[in-house]
Amino acid sequence: MESPLRYTLFEDLDELRTRLRSLTSGRRAIWVTESNCADHCLDRIGIASAGIVLPPGEEAKTAEQLIRLWSGLTDLGATRGDLMIAIGGGALLDVAGLSAATYKRGMGLVYVPTTLLADVDASIGGKTAIDFEGVKNGVGTFYTPEEVLIAPAFLSTLPELELLSGWGEILKYSMLTGFSVDEDLWGTAEVAPSLIRRCIDYKIEVVASDPLDKGGRRQFLNLGHTLGHALEALHLSKGEPVPHGIAVAAGLVMEGYLSLRRDRLPQEDLMRLARVVRDHFSPVSVLCTEYEQIHTLARQDKKLRSTEEGVPVVMLDRIGKPAPAELFTPKELDEAIDFYRDFMQI
Ligand SMILES: NC(=O)c1ccc[n+]([C@@H]2O[C@H](COP(=O)([O-])OP(=O)(O)OC[C@H]3O[C@@H](n4cnc5c(N)ncnc54)[C@H](O)[C@@H]3O)[C@@H](O)[C@H]2O)c1
Repeated sequence: MESPLRYTLFEDLDELRTRLRSLTSGRRAIWVTESNCADHCLDRIGIASAGIVLPPGEEAKTAEQLIRLWSGLTDLGATRGDLMIAIGGGALLDVAGLSAATYKRGMGLVYVPTTLLADVDASIGGKTAIDFEGVKNGVGTFYTPEEVLIAPAFLSTLPELELLSGWGEILKYSMLTGFSVDEDLWGTAEVAPSLIRRCIDYKIEVVASDPLDKGGRRQFLNLGHTLGHALEALHLSKGEPVPHGIAVAAGLVMEGYLSLRRDRLPQEDLMRLARVVRDHFSPVSVLCTEYEQIHTLARQDKKLRSTEEGVPVVMLDRIGKPAPAELFTPKELDEAIDFYRDFMQI
């Protein structure tokens, strides 16, 4: 098995430029990005234009754009020895990673994440994917980049809502590990490098223990995601996308309620979590009135195995102590959605 990852956190973009220069000396680089990052990020690292530019955000994570990538690589005469440098948020990294994994059975790959969510989560762990037939990450593979080069300086141009989305994954890590965050920092661009490292280091540790997500500790990373993905996919199906981390924040509350229902999570821990989400993650009202569709989408979430008996949800015994997934019935999922709606008053 490949090592889970090498990552470097750069204090400034000069250091990142220097690292990129050294990585690309003696090796052909193929720069891949999406249109917003082409506007906001490329010139900051001294790149005039990218070889392949995809549409922004989740629009890049489609079969059509994956084919565009393969065609672009073919047109550029890319070889296995070339290095794809993928610059963007989690969506761009997911599809670029899948193209690099499959083009000529695998070419060189480096990730340069440009969003908070990609810094703390999506750039780490080697999962690549596109969305397919309405299912988030319906098709994908595991492929570890040679390096991940993280420069939080890119966050200065990130829209507020996307920053908040990154905080949604930080909230997940805070639930998994028990670290706390100052009340006035949620949603801001002031993300201490030490906080980014805490999230990444935890992810690297659990990925190393279960690299292919076979039901070991890696499943903990799915906390909040069974229902979070269902809510995100529901929004996508309506043509009203919601940022990934915002859907995850809602999913964390609903799934926290399910942990309480199994006599695991103490009431005060659930309230602490729900208050953070209500006070900091509610500028976007997450669609959660279509119960049947949420059940169907939650069942399709492919990370854990759904069965006739129910939908698997990662448990929390208390904040900082996750436990393996348990199965829940549609009725129990409905109760969790109702708890969220009552608490958020939506
Ligand atoms: N592979 C994994 O392990 C993993 C983990 C978590 C999430 N994900 C995936 O990541 C995706 C979400 O990633 P994301 O939150 O980074 O969103 P994103 O990639 O969709 O980017 C969000 C928005 O920010 C814009 N943007 C990106 N960088 C910018 C910058 N520096 N300045 C201005 N605008 C910028 C993008 O164009 C887009 O509009 C989802 O598809 C999710 O499934 C993958």
